Amino acid sequence: MLTNRLILREWRDEDLEPFAALNSDPRVMEFLPALLSRTESDAMAERIQTHFQEHGFGLWAVEVQGGADFVGFVGLNIPRFEAHFTPCVEVGWRLSSDHWGKGYAPEAARASLEYGFRELGLNDIVAITVPHNLKSRRVMEKIGMRHEPEGDFLHPNLPEGHPLQQHVLYRVVKDDLKDE
Ligand SMILES: CC(C)(COP(=O)(O)OP(=O)(O)OC[C@H]1O[C@@H](n2cnc3c(N)ncnc32)[C@H](O)[C@@H]1OP(=O)(O)O)[C@@H](O)C(=O)NCCC(=O)NCCS
Repeated sequence: MLTNRLILREWRDEDLEPFAALNSDPRVMEFLPALLSRTESDAMAERIQTHFQEHGFGLWAVEVQGGADFVGFVGLNIPRFEAHFTPCVEVGWRLSSDHWGKGYAPEAARASLEYGFRELGLNDIVAITVPHNLKSRRVMEKIGMRHEPEGDFLHPNLPEGHPLQQHVLYRVVKDDLKDE
């Protein structure tokens, strides 16, 4: 899938090394539970590829047209945990810090939402993060998602009292999709 500046594509073996590099970068992982080892990073890439095989869509590898072959992932995912808003499809992103601040995440996320609404026929798409992840919340707002404060929740995969347990819930419905 093409956007103005990016290519959203399925994963290749060559992506595993730069993916492991971003998963071990403390800036990228600031609001995620832990840095990932190479083995853990490869396992995550494999889960992402399995999701593509099972559902035909997923967290696409992001390439810059005429530039970097792999800057991270953006796309759609069916969360495996259970919460009050699941089953659902979420939009998510994780980019190498070398490529932040250029609007790549919102550009790729908008294309992902359009794919979800047009190709998959979804009626709504959610996004979640921790309250302090203001960069990610800004991306959600830029692509027309709205915070649903009554939907905020404790992430079931994290233990009681974990500093990252509290999460905010954002949602966009088909008719609200914001153009550039
Ligand atoms: C979140 C992330 C994908 C953003 O990608 P990006 O392509 O750099 O996004 P943008 O270029 O739109 O820049 C982020 C926006 O946040 C704003 N921003 C940056 N730091 C901010 C802060 N501390 N507080 C508030 N807003 C902030 C930027 O100004 C920009 O908004 P603007 O265009 O209105 O100025 C990227 O930072 C990332 O991969 N983070 C680590 C992984 C992660 O947290 N993923 C989400 C987990 S749920």
